[in-house]
Amino acid sequence: MIEFQAVRKEYQNGTVAVHELSLSVRTGTITVLVGPSGCGKTTLMRMVNRMIEPSSGKVLVGGTDVRERDPAELRRGIGYVIQQAGLFPHRTVLDNIATVPLLHGRSKQEARKRAGDLLELVGLQPELAKRYPAQLSGGQQQRVGVARALAADPPVLLMDEPFSAVDPVVREGLQDELLRLQDELDKTVLFVTHDIDEAIKLGEKVAVLRQGGHLAQYAEPDDLLAEPADDFVTAFVGRDRGYRRLSFVDSDSLRPQPVDTVQLGTRVDRQQQWRLALDDTGKPRGWLPPETEVDGPLTEDRLVAGGSLYSRGAPLRGALDAALSAPTGLGVVVDPDGGYVGVVTAEHVLGVIEQHRRPEGLP
Ligand SMILES: Nc1ncnc2c1ncn2[C@@H]1O[C@H](COP(=O)(O)OP(=O)(O)O)[C@@H](O)[C@H]1O
Ligand SMILES: [Mg+2]
Repeated sequence: MIEFQAVRKEYQNGTVAVHELSLSVRTGTITVLVGPSGCGKTTLMRMVNRMIEPSSGKVLVGGTDVRERDPAELRRGIGYVIQQAGLFPHRTVLDNIATVPLLHGRSKQEARKRAGDLLELVGLQPELAKRYPAQLSGGQQQRVGVARALAADPPVLLMDEPFSAVDPVVREGLQDELLRLQDELDKTVLFVTHDIDEAIKLGEKVAVLRQGGHLAQYAEPDDLLAEPADDFVTAFVGRDRGYRRLSFVDSDSLRPQPVDTVQLGTRVDRQQQWRLALDDTGKPRGWLPPETEVDGPLTEDRLVAGGSLYSRGAPLRGALDAALSAPTGLGVVVDPDGGYVGVVTAEHVLGVIEQHRRPEGLP
């Protein structure tokens, strides 16, 4: 859908912002450009909608060189979202969004209807429609920015650090929302960020750039973390990448082990080891400490709360969390209905990651 062919950008003052870079972005996916500030991300992105012209090389959108397209017509097919949303301060939220369909020749009524639908799509209450941008939180403004970019239903969306100005909790919500929207809308999204975690969460493919507009690596997140191409990428993805990888490794090779269990509401004898207490539907309720004397049927107040539960099939990070948060060091694995399956240790989880990291036959 978008193809950069040996594009280079040298500004008038001699700064080389992008150095002969080639990259192709698959239709219907989120591709992320990530790298430190000043490495040429914005320059590269703006060449797609002709806000910046390359010094040499070509950018193709849908197979056509963008230089052969009329800029205004080209931009109608490309939504653009920037940091701080870039909203018109003196127009209401609804009018900010409706501007785009109006520009495209829709009637006022149609444009407002479309704007209302988009507000809902990005998860904003209809009451906000009449407010002005300054009356919204940063996260809400960003959602309006996304709604406006989607207003013309463009096949391509360019997003330049759209979530960088909001606090981390709101940012996570916006990221989740983008993934949900993408599931529904199937746009081709080119997303710029300096945050490697955001890149890995959102990108089906991630292009890591370094100073001077060099492409250091272009890969799927899993490969980026497993096999960083060079020292720059290694440093950039960070030392804790083994832990990050847990999100991607398939949990099939995780084999939960049995542990002693007791049934709530029944009489239990005194024993030396920790036992997992289950209710009468087989769901884990907590741990019974060693040497506990129970006089009569076992009740919940005798139990120590277990850590988080790991639902089989979920990302492995959850299994490690479960093991590390349990009083026994044993993470409880449940089936999708919440029924007890078995337990895993942190060591066991890390072993699975390690196996996954080294293809068979290699030391
Ligand atoms: N109009 C310009 N004139 C000269 N240099 C520029 C201009 N715009 C950006 N630059 C420089 O080009 C490099 C890349 O900038 P930019 O693409 O904005 O990077 P990023 O978005 O990755 O932070 C930086 O060194 C920046 O200072
Ligand atoms: Mg930038």
